[in-house]
Amino acid sequence: IKRTKIVDLLKSTAFGSTVNVKGWVRTRRGSKQVNFIALNDGSTINNVQIVVDVDKLGEEFLKPITTGASISVNGTLVQSQGKGQSVEIQATEIEIYGTADPATYPLQKKGHSMEFLREIAHLRPRTNTFGAVFRIRHNMAYAIHKFFHDKGFFYFHTPIITASDCEGAGQMFQVTTKNLYNLKKDENGSILYDDDFFGKQTSLTVSGQLEGELAATALGQIYTFGPTFRAENSNTPRHLAEFWMIEPEVAFNDINDNMELAEEFIKYCVQWALDNCMDDVKFLNDMFDKGLIERLQGVLKDEFVRLPYTEGIKILEEAVAKGHKFEFPVYWGVDLASEHERFLVEEHFKRPVILTDYPKEIKAFYMKQNEDGKTVRAMDVLFPKIGEIIGGSEREADYDKLYNRIQELNIPMKDMWWYLDTRRFGTVPHSGFGLGFERLLLFVTGMANIRDVIPFPRTPNNAEF
Ligand code: 4AD
Ligand code: MG
Repeated sequence: IKRTKIVDLLKSTAFGSTVNVKGWVRTRRGSKQVNFIALNDGSTINNVQIVVDVDKLGEEFLKPITTGASISVNGTLVQSQGKGQSVEIQATEIEIYGTADPATYPLQKKGHSMEFLREIAHLRPRTNTFGAVFRIRHNMAYAIHKFFHDKGFFYFHTPIITASDCEGAGQMFQVTTKNLYNLKKDENGSILYDDDFFGKQTSLTVSGQLEGELAATALGQIYTFGPTFRAENSNTPRHLAEFWMIEPEVAFNDINDNMELAEEFIKYCVQWALDNCMDDVKFLNDMFDKGLIERLQGVLKDEFVRLPYTEGIKILEEAVAKGHKFEFPVYWGVDLASEHERFLVEEHFKRPVILTDYPKEIKAFYMKQNEDGKTVRAMDVLFPKIGEIIGGSEREADYDKLYNRIQELNIPMKDMWWYLDTRRFGTVPHSGFGLGFERLLLFVTGMANIRDVIPFPRTPNNAEF
């Protein structure tokens, strides 16, 4: 008989029929006469209960069926007597694929700390928590593609190895090449590294935006969705050295269109989670974060506040004057810390905020310069519990202004000539933004640390798995 996935089986009403399920044992308990095995196959957070007549299958045979063992079960589907489950299987036959020695298998049935689970990142997808998180991660990726596809955006692939530093923050991991076919050795026989594979110095991309702009000024509206890399030595619960970013870029959109798109996009993703991942979201809500579902529903109801940076600073300064203590100072020109962002969102407005028109000194070279000569048409979307979840802007479309800004910042022109061509030939107003995929997942799952929403986190001193 063909295997039925547990997610489908739990919805089945074909009582009396013979079924097969395969999966990993969560627990086995019971008496001398009857055993209950909770089996999970990863298709859902929910287990199916296997009822075993001990005499029929034999006590000795059942012994190695411990937490973590993999088995295949044939049996009869019956309506469950127990509360909290709809169906169960009365086993007629069990095959053991593999055992998991209780003395060494780390995932015994008990609470494990997130720190411990990070040390066994190769096994943690087998826990309820990480099963839920990674199913949600998949669903969010799907929702993102669907959102843009339905709107007529094209998914555009930008390179991972690049010679330009989009954000200009000097956080690029350099690519060194060792030419395996032509190893040069020194007199002691040590390999001499050849850093000249590309004929110039290259790095892992920090953003696909610059190439995304090339595409938007050809295909109209595009998005990227790929891995990005930042060598920032910030050991925080919100930073990864390798993270995934979604970057839509739209020709003819101004900053207001950009804000509208960002708000619609993020609400679509949150709605998708509520509509399609409720079992997993509810599990995480009940287990870790009792306010999760309410927070998700909250951002859907609220219209996001739109506020110039300068106004935001005034609000923060007033809070300081009234005695609110921040760790970092507040003044016009400062790059806001996450505590400042969260104050605006969580305490002042009590809903998401889009902060606009930042000082040009703290933003990247490509942003459209405002008339005041001091600010640029940037927009950061700030979220409860997260702080910055999206960063974007209207782009500088004027060749001379962009050229001068690149020069002012001492960005090597030899890496930028192709980018400048978008402004040299048929330049148009355009805008875009970047959503940090893991920041979105932090919000949707309620997890406290960004290391726990990506299968294999890359952070300073951590690339074990
Ligand atoms: O604000 P950022 O640096 O903007 C850009 O990279 C632009 N090129 C985007 C664009 O306009 N196309 O990064 C965008 C988002 C941030 O708001 C944050 O959500 C996420 O990427 N992010 C990180 N997520 C995890 N770990 C890090 N180290 C991150 N750095 C940025
Ligand atoms: Mg940013």
